[in-house]
Amino acid sequence: MGPYPLSLEERIILKSPLEIERMRRSNRVVAEILQEVKAAVQPGVKTRELDELAEALLKKHRARSAFKGYNGYPAVLCTSVNEEVVHGIPSDRVLRNGDILSLDFGAVLDDYYGDAAITVPVGTISEEARRLLRVTEEALYKAIEQARPGNHVGDISAAVQRHVESQGFSAVRDFVGHGIGKFMHEKPQVPNFGIPGRGVRLKVGMTLAIEPMINAGGYEVVVLDDGWTAVTRDRNLSAHFEHSVAVTENGPMILSEL
Ligand code: MF3
Ligand code: CO
Repeated sequence: MGPYPLSLEERIILKSPLEIERMRRSNRVVAEILQEVKAAVQPGVKTRELDELAEALLKKHRARSAFKGYNGYPAVLCTSVNEEVVHGIPSDRVLRNGDILSLDFGAVLDDYYGDAAITVPVGTISEEARRLLRVTEEALYKAIEQARPGNHVGDISAAVQRHVESQGFSAVRDFVGHGIGKFMHEKPQVPNFGIPGRGVRLKVGMTLAIEPMINAGGYEVVVLDDGWTAVTRDRNLSAHFEHSVAVTENGPMILSEL
């Protein structure tokens, strides 16, 4: 390519309609498995049991885990409870009535990655927790609405930030969404805070994992000694919703829905 560094835009791997179809298939498997795992969530269940269920379902779909073995991550599912933001490791922890549980899950099928996340209530949760889940999911859909050709990554980022801050919540800054395709993490990064009109310009064929991680209190996070689990610094609640999305000439296409 010559002596000059590639621009951010040039490193982005655009997908053909056929590739987007294949990504739709891997992401549909992710969506189906997330729904089955969600249905198993109730007080008394261990997070490890949810991981075992997800692993069995991957086999059934002849897909492989996107997460297990990634930088040494030991499970197929991330299970982040209450003040845990992302990357909680499934364990013998027993879910209790009133907990909120973020389920982040990724699969590879036919060489293409799928990646999505939901946060679900365990039994009956507080009104404040319900509001956090609702606002975080709304932020995801407002962000997805911006994923159209000619817009910029900053439009996606700003849509998340604006919505959650208007509700008194904060967007995590230390973790971001990402391009996705034959790799789980591709360019560009997709932050959950930013300025409209800034950043990479969106083109037809870009595929993005958009994933607001939203805290009820401050945006700061710390990683626990296990090297994975990110928690809110103030130990207030956090929620996470994620979809993989394709930018098409007709606007955003959500890949990770049923
Ligand atoms: N969905 C997350 C991401 O986009 C989870 C990956 S963490 C892993 O980065 F280690 F579990 F793979
Ligand atoms: Co992701």
